[in-house]
Amino acid sequence: MSDVGRRDFLKTTAAVATTAAAMTRIAEGASDKVNLGWIGTGSRGMYVMEHGYQSKELFQVVAVCDTYSGNLAKAKDQVQTIGKNTPKTYVDYRELLADPNVDAVAISTPEHLHFSMAIAALKAGKNIYLEKPIAHTIEEGAQIVALAEKVGKVVQVGTQNRSNKLYKRAKEMYEQGMAGECHFTRAFWYRNFDTTAAVPAAWRYVIPEDASPENTDWKRFLEGAKDQRVPFDKHRYFQWRNYWDYSSGIATDLLVHQTDISNFVLNKTVPSSCSASGGVYMWTRAKGDDREVPDTFSAVYEYPDQFELNYSSYFGNDQYGYGEQFMGSEGTIEVISRQYMNFFPQKFKGKSGAMIAVKDRQELHLDRVKDLGQADDGTGDHVRNFLMACLGKEKAIAPAKAGQIAAIPGHLATLSYKNNKKIFWDDKTQKYHFS
Ligand SMILES: NC(=O)c1ccc[n+]([C@@H]2O[C@H](COP(=O)([O-])OP(=O)(O)OC[C@H]3O[C@@H](n4cnc5c(N)ncnc54)[C@H](O)[C@@H]3O)[C@@H](O)[C@H]2O)c1
Repeated sequence: MSDVGRRDFLKTTAAVATTAAAMTRIAEGASDKVNLGWIGTGSRGMYVMEHGYQSKELFQVVAVCDTYSGNLAKAKDQVQTIGKNTPKTYVDYRELLADPNVDAVAISTPEHLHFSMAIAALKAGKNIYLEKPIAHTIEEGAQIVALAEKVGKVVQVGTQNRSNKLYKRAKEMYEQGMAGECHFTRAFWYRNFDTTAAVPAAWRYVIPEDASPENTDWKRFLEGAKDQRVPFDKHRYFQWRNYWDYSSGIATDLLVHQTDISNFVLNKTVPSSCSASGGVYMWTRAKGDDREVPDTFSAVYEYPDQFELNYSSYFGNDQYGYGEQFMGSEGTIEVISRQYMNFFPQKFKGKSGAMIAVKDRQELHLDRVKDLGQADDGTGDHVRNFLMACLGKEKAIAPAKAGQIAAIPGHLATLSYKNNKKIFWDDKTQKYHFS
């Protein structure tokens, strides 16, 4: 197949569209690879790329883009080392999008940049692997979903738990009736920090010594942020999760993974209400930390179909780690640290429940690596699924719509917390209102 023909094929292949024509071209033995451009090559971008290389035969990174010169150089180096080719380098993502050799892009920049980058990428006809949360607000996410559906491009949101074999197993077990009726999920994410370590507090990552307004392109970082006049601040640039303009902290960084996976396992969609509370209790201004987002956060969600999700996150103690517990009338399915799954049958006077769909259920303990042979948390398989969707061979497991449904609870929690009010979501009008 000619280069132009190959690109046309990749560009016109929609999320679900395993068209007859496409299948014929694949069957004809075209050795097509997706030509990927990578926008944002910080910690997540580099990790996803590295794990994506498990499917080396499906893609090559032909271009990388980052506003911080140090991370751009690292990305080029990683492509040369693992991919064995030399990618083009860009500082301006619009120039990368204008490159006709790029079929698809991965976007792993800070949250406030997802919207403008995803919209521009879709307009440029590119498929996208878009890190979570899909966008910084509900309204922005809705526009991405609408445009993705209109132009028929593949969007895979970076909620990789969906590609984690433990959650897939949990979903099967739940659907087989192992847990009985489930009206309640408990989800949590706890962390703690050694104040003498290189990262002494949540999201206070190490800042490169050479960081300056010039080599980070501060203006481009601020694009899409609420306040464009903030003077250069390397804390904001490298530790952006701590500030509302670029992130919603726990709610969109951690919680969205967990509402997403609860939806996936239990076949739920969006909640109808949320009450959130919390605060900055650990790393206060008095202790010299200017973070704006809470380090202690709880949210209670009601769903329209007799279901409640109880969420908590705290950065002052990590005894219980992180995970989700799907609490059914006949048993509990829990996934901890994305690595272990446990099933505990309920006992009634020492016996299993009468309603059980599967008799004689025993406790079950699975280790993702040892028992299911999955080396990472699902990231490698998530990228593979994206590439296969670009090639028209699979359907994306985390399309834009699923990413938006995952993010809405995060945004509702932020709005409830900031307004100190219970918030309600009307799924028909796609609007929220307060009590
Ligand atoms: N799926 C997951 O489990 C997971 C885990 C971590 C992070 N993430 C997501 O990945 C994204 C990135 O997070 P991170 O931890 O890698 O952050 P990071 O700060 O380490 O990396 C962000 C990169 O974007 C670059 N950048 C900033 N502005 C840019 C611009 N205008 N154009 C091009 N590049 C720009 C920065 O220089 C940096 O290299 C976020 O959306 C985050 O929520 C997802």
